[in-house]
Amino acid sequence: MTGPQWERSIKVTTAEQTRRLAAALAGVLEAGDLLVLTGELGAGKTTFTQGLGEGLGVRAGIISPTFVLVRIHPNLPEGPRPGGPDLVHVDAYRLDSAAEIDDIDLENTMDTSVTVVEWGRDRVEHLSDSRLEVDLHRAVGGGAAPAAAAGTTLDFETEDDDEPRTIVLRGFGPRWPEAPGFLGNAPLEGGN
Ligand SMILES: Nc1ncnc2c1ncn2[C@@H]1O[C@H](COP(=O)(O)OP(=O)(O)O)[C@@H](O)[C@H]1O
Ligand SMILES: [Mg+2]
Repeated sequence: MTGPQWERSIKVTTAEQTRRLAAALAGVLEAGDLLVLTGELGAGKTTFTQGLGEGLGVRAGIISPTFVLVRIHPNLPEGPRPGGPDLVHVDAYRLDSAAEIDDIDLENTMDTSVTVVEWGRDRVEHLSDSRLEVDLHRAVGGGAAPAAAAGTTLDFETEDDDEPRTIVLRGFGPRWPEAPGFLGNAPLEGGN
């Protein structure tokens, strides 16, 4: 399989920033697009998908599909993209192979939807000749969790523990000849 056409690395520090990045990305997504999300448990795959849902303006309620493998979130006419694509959210964690992916018939919904697959790597690439890979990494280098490193005791003010993430986007196939403009397409003149 050929490699990515481009790669962009974005650092975020909060779950909200992860959602906002995804919402911005949603602005350039079209029906038929396939997104493959990779990252350990708790990395933010579902959080990222929630942002996609906000940006696409689909029915809310994006959660980790623990028992349900596939959820379809219909596009809302009152959202930012009326008549735009639905969001199909798949958790492929329990699916061991491409053959099991084929059993859930994503082909039926792909043409009218943005299809997002958590744990999709090595399982769904055959579904489309193009895809976006989204890898979410807990920031490397620090080691200890930021909250612990900050030496705080019990901070009940901090509702959810925002942590830095590095989000790496890669475009594969003819759909993604170059990175979406909002990611910074052109190399800066004069370097830097
Ligand atoms: N920068 C961040 N980006 C995404 N999620 C974050 C971030 N910082 C903290 N979190 C928290 O990490 C958790 C990620 O959970 P989730 O999105 O369900 O992960 P996954 O689907 O990869 O298992 C959420 O509770 C979220 O609030
Ligand atoms: Mg999840």
